[in-house]
Amino acid sequence: MSKVVWLTDPHLVAPGHEPPQGVDPLPRLRAALAEAAALHADAARIVLSGDLVQLRNPEAYRLLREELERVRMPFRLLVGNHDDRAQLLDAFPETATVDGFIQSAEDLGDVQMLYLDTLAHDGKHHGELCPTRLQWLERQIAAADERPLLVFQHHPPCDIGVPALDRLRLLDNTGLARLLKARRAPTHLFCGHVHRNVSGRWAGHPFATLKSLHVQLAFDMRQPRLVYSDEPPGYGVILVDGGDIVVHHRDLPA
Ligand SMILES: [Fe+2]
Repeated sequence: MSKVVWLTDPHLVAPGHEPPQGVDPLPRLRAALAEAAALHADAARIVLSGDLVQLRNPEAYRLLREELERVRMPFRLLVGNHDDRAQLLDAFPETATVDGFIQSAEDLGDVQMLYLDTLAHDGKHHGELCPTRLQWLERQIAAADERPLLVFQHHPPCDIGVPALDRLRLLDNTGLARLLKARRAPTHLFCGHVHRNVSGRWAGHPFATLKSLHVQLAFDMRQPRLVYSDEPPGYGVILVDGGDIVVHHRDLPA
């Protein structure tokens, strides 16, 4: 059985910077990493699915590196709409890239991993997968075998019924849908960005989103603007056993 610890949207700020929404992200990240180290040190990977730092906080990447190195577990990083590829690579130069995008594939033995880069080209907050990224993804999916495939990306690919979030999803999802529909073997999509636990099925496969390690976004199906909520932060634990995939959602004390 393989275990993956899934964290998302820590929105770290550099020391001395104003905490977003009045909440310091650092103690929440530390709580999740401490629990991961204590209870899930057997995990094959910690995956952070983007918004690693708050917008325009390049020094926060070094802080993230210090925190991750302390737990001594292998990790993989994705970019979100608050991230900057060059700044991330400056602090984490070992990060795999393809054609300048922070995406990669990894074989963990009994599970195959894909880490996608859905950052928009012009600094916008919605998600994009341009032809270059989709062509790479097409090759990866064609090369994948019958073992479960876990696909991580920051932006969810479909509407979830919360208008403020739906306008910021992966807007053109047709390429991704076509590629996923062509795959029959066990496949699961994992997305950040939503700052809520949501699950469902899209393009023939299950997907899940996850609470932020920082603050949550309200379950508001009417408001066109983003509304924050005081729900506690959380993280996920993914178990893969043969063709079976289990996703746990764990809340942390706020
Ligand atoms: Fe976020």
